[in-house]
Amino acid sequence: MNFTNLLYSVDAGIATITVNRPDKLNALNQATVRELEQAFLAAKADPAVRVVVMAGSGPKAFIAGADINELAQLTPVEALAFSRHGQRVMLTIEQLGKPVIARIQGFALGGGMELAMSCHLRIASDAAKLGQPEINLGIIPGFGGSQRLLRLAGRSAALELCLLGHSISADRAYQLGAVTRVVPADQLDAEVDKIAKQLAASARYAVDGVLSSVLVGGECSIEQGLDYESQAFALCCATEDKQEGRSARQTCQPQNVLLREKCPRQKFFSLGEDARKNLSFQQYVLLPVPGRRQTLRCRTNPSAAAAR
Ligand code: COA
Repeated sequence: MNFTNLLYSVDAGIATITVNRPDKLNALNQATVRELEQAFLAAKADPAVRVVVMAGSGPKAFIAGADINELAQLTPVEALAFSRHGQRVMLTIEQLGKPVIARIQGFALGGGMELAMSCHLRIASDAAKLGQPEINLGIIPGFGGSQRLLRLAGRSAALELCLLGHSISADRAYQLGAVTRVVPADQLDAEVDKIAKQLAASARYAVDGVLSSVLVGGECSIEQGLDYESQAFALCCATEDKQEGRSARQTCQPQNVLLREKCPRQKFFSLGEDARKNLSFQQYVLLPVPGRRQTLRCRTNPSAAAAR
């Protein structure tokens, strides 16, 4: 996909969306917010995408907030539309149905912190600085920051950051529960990559079930949340992933296994055609392989081992 202010790529189930305005510290102008919406909707619609990584270009910033130059020109009516559109984009990210990982280096301020908080996991460099400095400009967060910070880190942290407007370190953000993990700056890419690959190889409906159960549960009574969880749990039990996971507990001799690629289904790539005909597959074990979902199928017919 071609964008003016974003880079968009998909590789091995992982879509990477990068705000690409490094000379403006990736500030979110209105055009960029519109492109973010298009990019996330594309990632949602693409069945090949299992995980999204949200990043900013350059070493200095994830995103240094909404574009101050544009903010200065907004009339109240335009500000309302800008805020509502931004909130809708953040909700699109939060409700994507696929995990979104924020890769946070440098500044994540204002709209940058709001965008990071709408992602499901936030992996920060130890050099990152986070904050909601809007009050220093005479305004308040407008893309959901007051609401998500409250839910993530509690009332005390939300009031402190939004009222005082100062930046905090990645370590402090971690202590507050506002970031998921802090890593040395030179390990940020490796850590994000590792987590993205793990999620891309995880059971699709179980991942969706976790995302939706936690999101729904945060906004309703315990009874409603539990009911939702039960239904998502039951749905997972109808999936092939669940059948394979259950059988993984059964004994399986390593020499009696055959590597099978899960997608496309039934494509055996470690045996020739003759060998396949002799096989009787009855048990399954789950074997996550980095970057690709694969399974091992166990043969119950010992004589078939000779066919390998
Ligand atoms: N909107 C528009 N432009 C921004 C921006 C923003 N939110 N944040 C940074 N920029 C631009 C600067 O204007 C500058 O552009 P220029 O070179 O054309 O003048 C460029 O990005 C580099 O920023 P600069 O301020 O020179 O970098 P710095 O290292 O000295 O300071 C910050 C970094 C993040 C502390 C500082 O840029 C800043 O305070 N930005 C505003 C953060 C903010 O209030 N965000 C919330 C907005 S609601």
